[in-house]
Amino acid sequence: MAILQAVSLAKRFGPVTAVDDVSLTVGEGEIAGLLGPNGAGKSTTLHMLLGLVTPDSGTVRMFGRELAGNRAEVLSRVNFSASYLGLPGVLQVREVLDAFARLYGLRHPARRVAELTGQLDLGPLLKRKVTELSSGQQTRVQLAKALLNEPSLLILDEPTAALDPDAGDRIRRLLVETARESGRAMLITSHNMREVERMCDRIHFMAGGRIIATGTAAQLADDFGVADLEEVFLKVARR
Ligand SMILES: Nc1ncnc2c1ncn2[C@@H]1O[C@H](COP(=O)(O)OP(=O)(O)OP(=O)(O)O)[C@@H](O)[C@H]1O
Ligand SMILES: [Mg+2]
Repeated sequence: MAILQAVSLAKRFGPVTAVDDVSLTVGEGEIAGLLGPNGAGKSTTLHMLLGLVTPDSGTVRMFGRELAGNRAEVLSRVNFSASYLGLPGVLQVREVLDAFARLYGLRHPARRVAELTGQLDLGPLLKRKVTELSSGQQTRVQLAKALLNEPSLLILDEPTAALDPDAGDRIRRLLVETARESGRAMLITSHNMREVERMCDRIHFMAGGRIIATGTAAQLADDFGVADLEEVFLKVARR
């Protein structure tokens, strides 16, 4: 079943057409990647899927229901993480996670926070204020927040951008594992082509607001007559 189905999404900001006729689906347990050069329209697309930006046209369906008109119900099964989202800086990490756990109405908030503290290695950070964390540490807290409600659909805008290779590798493993085990669907953007090759079952390549190619990393490399995704990217970006 399609967890997410976007049909013909479009968004203009004044003279700029940020997203132009974008359609995509993400199935249960699928990790889908949204790639493309800076300004291609990736974040704007994600923001429309999340109801943060209202599309000029097109529809978003999640779990078989339309987002418009079923917003609270649909979005309770979704979560989002991005490096540009601020967390309440005056709070300690534990306070942030407790607050979101309560906001999401979790049945066992303390248990879930403890679980994620272990998985994301947040133990040493729990008593630190968010503003005092390094960007990689903040990223891990963001991810913990995004996993709190065990979302059926996880939308991640450049989730590992600030992480060192070791932390990045751990987070990728954790995300892939949870997708495989729980059937969680994910849609991620990234400028790290190796990461996308490793994680994504299917990749949607965007340029100039449109999806110009879709396939596995190997299929895309084949279609473009190059060796790997990095070369596909360079070909798309430079044409
Ligand atoms: N709120 C906004 N107001 C005006 N223009 C916007 C707004 N948000 C995005 N844009 C424009 O829409 C286009 C697409 O931006 P978007 O952030 O979706 O790109 P992106 O693919 O996420 O790029 P990046 O890889 O740099 O994150 C850009 O030209 C951008 O300047
Ligand atoms: Mg972006």
